[in-house]
Amino acid sequence: MKLAVVGGGSTYTPELIDGFARMRDLLPIEELWLVDTDPERLRLVGGMSERMFRAAGHTGRIVPTGDLVAGVSDADAVLIQLRVGGQAARHGDETFPHECGCIGQETTGPGGFAKALRTVPVVLRVAEAVRAHAKPDAWIVDFTNPVGIVTRALLQEGHRAVGLCNVAIGFQRRFASLLGVDHTAISLGHVGLNHLTWERAAYVTDENGTHDALPGLIGDHLGTLAEEIELPASLITLLDSVPSYYLRYYYAHDEVLREQLGSPTRAEAVLEVERALLDLYADPAVDTKPDALAKRGGAFYSEAAVDLLASLTSDRRDTQIVNLRNNGALPFLPDDHVIEVPAVVGADGLTALPIEPLPADIAGLVVHVAGYERLALDAAVHGGRDRVVRAMLAHPLVGQYDKAEKLTDLLIDRNREHLAWA
Ligand code: G6P
Ligand code: MN
Repeated sequence: MKLAVVGGGSTYTPELIDGFARMRDLLPIEELWLVDTDPERLRLVGGMSERMFRAAGHTGRIVPTGDLVAGVSDADAVLIQLRVGGQAARHGDETFPHECGCIGQETTGPGGFAKALRTVPVVLRVAEAVRAHAKPDAWIVDFTNPVGIVTRALLQEGHRAVGLCNVAIGFQRRFASLLGVDHTAISLGHVGLNHLTWERAAYVTDENGTHDALPGLIGDHLGTLAEEIELPASLITLLDSVPSYYLRYYYAHDEVLREQLGSPTRAEAVLEVERALLDLYADPAVDTKPDALAKRGGAFYSEAAVDLLASLTSDRRDTQIVNLRNNGALPFLPDDHVIEVPAVVGADGLTALPIEPLPADIAGLVVHVAGYERLALDAAVHGGRDRVVRAMLAHPLVGQYDKAEKLTDLLIDRNREHLAWA
């Protein structure tokens, strides 16, 4: 199998390599092409990846390249994990909303919108190269944020794409460890849009059959769960479900804003982690995934990616939590919206499992954010200030016209070099 990773010079790549090496029986990779526009990153990350494969006894060939077409040619699958504008652009996303009293975040709110505007055209260009040069049935797995909007952009253009995030697998592993069971025994009732999700059930299958362990988990570990998502325990009880950490930007907006105003941005923190990681990647003696990588947010990405690629390429037909076309699974959303839910994954495609009706508060927020996402994608594809204002206004964390206008002008001003139409 030939796999291509676009954005392969990312400091995250050794996370993937670690998964590819550990789970090589599940995913037999013969060639792994790392495609990146930054030659220095490619050299360091490529060298590190090569050493990791050899140390693990993996016989696959690693090919770093700056040539997208060569990278994706005849690939069986392509992972896209790029970041347009790097951490500098992310720092902008995390700060410009502050000028209007909004939280600054790279995937949520006005910052996430800026990222979508920069990213969608670039990912669509990559996908065209995949369509032209990869194997005809090659899958695109998108890690690139904002995953919901980017995945919908790909599907709208007819690409064979699926979006992936590690929030769900993170909860699955955490719940398993709290319950003292193997993670494979747990299926989550995970629902929502990417970075806007709730865990409503945790089905455990054992010799007595299948039962929902979430009420018991909430009963026994409420304090721990609340601490980890940094939201009040009483909110978990009230909702009768566990919101993801990203819901903090909604449920505790003003508190997050206060915290942000007094601390360095995540982009600044990540830059430091990346400097240390690149030093390690440059060291010929280092040939296993460094502990410092755990300081990034991508825990279990590699496992999620290997599992998904294995099922897409070998037709295992197991259930995984992915970003895919709604197709009526959430009846209050358009069929072509992208949702993040459990789905059966096979070589011919993905099918969402039936979803229990959502309570009105959760459904309402999902619809509201989905409306923003649709307008945001329209703005990303067609450009123009009016489209940006319209989507900005539609975001539940903005909602007022004067703010939407001011945020739009700040966004365009900060991102002009990345917006072809501005
Ligand atoms: C989680 C999210 C990803 C996001 C990452 C940020 O893993 O699911 O979508 O990219 O966190 O991590 P970072 O280390 O860049 O802050
Ligand atoms: Mn994510």
